[in-house]
Amino acid sequence: MGQVVPFPAAEPGPEERPVLVLDLGGQYAQLIARRVREARVYSELVPHSISAAEARARNPRALVLSGGPASVYAEGAPRVDPELFSLGVPALGICYGMQLMAQELGGRVERTGVSEFGKTEVTAEGESALFTGLPDEQTGWMSHRDSVTAPPEGARVTAGSPAAPIAAFEDAERGVYGVQFHPEVVHTPHGQELLKNFLYGVADAPPTWTAAAVIEEQVERIRAQVGSQRVLCALSGGVDSAVAALLVHKAVGDQLVCVFVDHGFLRKDEAAQVVETFEGHFHVPLVHVDAQTRFLARLNGVADPEEKRKAVGEEFIRVFEKESTRLGKIRYLVQGTLYSDVIESGGDAAVAATIKSHHNVGGLPEEMEMELVEPLRLLFKDEVRRVGAELGLPERMVWRQPFPGPGLAIRIIGEVTRERLEILREADSILQEEIRRAGLYRELWQSFAVLPAIRSVGVQGDERTYGYPVVVRAVTSDDAMTADWARLPYDLLETISSRIVNEVPAVNRVVLDITSKPPSTIEWE
Ligand code: XMP
Repeated sequence: MGQVVPFPAAEPGPEERPVLVLDLGGQYAQLIARRVREARVYSELVPHSISAAEARARNPRALVLSGGPASVYAEGAPRVDPELFSLGVPALGICYGMQLMAQELGGRVERTGVSEFGKTEVTAEGESALFTGLPDEQTGWMSHRDSVTAPPEGARVTAGSPAAPIAAFEDAERGVYGVQFHPEVVHTPHGQELLKNFLYGVADAPPTWTAAAVIEEQVERIRAQVGSQRVLCALSGGVDSAVAALLVHKAVGDQLVCVFVDHGFLRKDEAAQVVETFEGHFHVPLVHVDAQTRFLARLNGVADPEEKRKAVGEEFIRVFEKESTRLGKIRYLVQGTLYSDVIESGGDAAVAATIKSHHNVGGLPEEMEMELVEPLRLLFKDEVRRVGAELGLPERMVWRQPFPGPGLAIRIIGEVTRERLEILREADSILQEEIRRAGLYRELWQSFAVLPAIRSVGVQGDERTYGYPVVVRAVTSDDAMTADWARLPYDLLETISSRIVNEVPAVNRVVLDITSKPPSTIEWE
């Protein structure tokens, strides 16, 4: 008989061993989860109220306690289940999280009268797991009034700052680690390395959560969910629905059918690109509905922005339903829900309701009663883009700036007519081309043209004209909640302006929007 070779135990997938980030109310909790993922370790944001038993059931690699606005000794301040520190997995406390650890584990937290806000010099003291390979002197970004004045029992102080002699501690035996500064923010230059020290060195978490791993995992999940059933997906031209569709197609091939309702309000060449990419390149079964005439007819005489949005949304659902009825009974519908949607709506239970209330193009018609397939549920937007790139989605689609569901219809102020739509589409296309040529497309949150509902006098050649002005809107932003108007170079503005007035006959004036949000919004509507 030959030798018996033991079958190697399968390595758990990265998503089976998450790093759990406990949200203690700090503004950076989500950012911590993202930074952990940037280190290629899967992480999830969980409420600080998670019990030790619930956490154990997730089989985590490590815990991270986020910052928070409260004082640990204040009444009603967020706490964590103390049993979490006996799970046998290492825990890293950041800012408030560190102070909470100190308080729970036999140390002391006090208001010393000295606060630290902003960049602070931190000195690492001697050998330590968190500071391995980092310079002894480094900048840490601080934001605290309270300080740890005694570390947890048995823990060693590993760094100090002028106002916080205990700026970091660690106890390898108990697996507790704390830092007063914020390693997750960019103002802490060695912060990401410190996090990696914790993840790779302390928590023994391998950097295996890559775009390829996400694809593999999702493909398996999709197959397990839908079996041999058919799946329907509405493509909008945006990156989320495109990546979601490609994942499902990779998983179940031609069981997927995509419906692309082209309302005619996309930017120049975008509709053609959707068709070329999905049908031509990826060979995804695609129903392309050219509904521009229908949508224009529906918007006839509609000038009010809310009415316009409602009309486009309703018309979209009507067309989508008609097309899907034609396709016969389909049980599953793909939806591009992102992890940020899941977090913002307070977790799993609430999310379905929130998604339905977004009257976005591609939204689920409520009465269709289909089961959702949500392959992007665990991903942040930048991760969706990385997965898209890995799947071979063209660069232009992967990096497309955010674009409103009703498209150019809400960038035409007042009534949308075929003529005005063509004017805006041409002007916008020139703007896009020049922004890309200047290498600014990815740096800007959004850049686009707007057609207001006025006309003005100009002179072109020897003739007076009565034409349209076009507004150039370009903003920088992190999340669209606030935005700043982009300081585009004058030379670029000049090129944009002269090309638009020369190449779009009906336009005789180009103006620049120099307002931030607030008080303005990004879109004009
Ligand atoms: P405002 O104009 O309110 O826009 O500052 C904030 C962000 O939301 C985008 N936006 C939309 N995105 N469907 C979307 O997916 C929509 O209907 C929609 N309307 C506005 C807008 O482009 C900006 O990025």
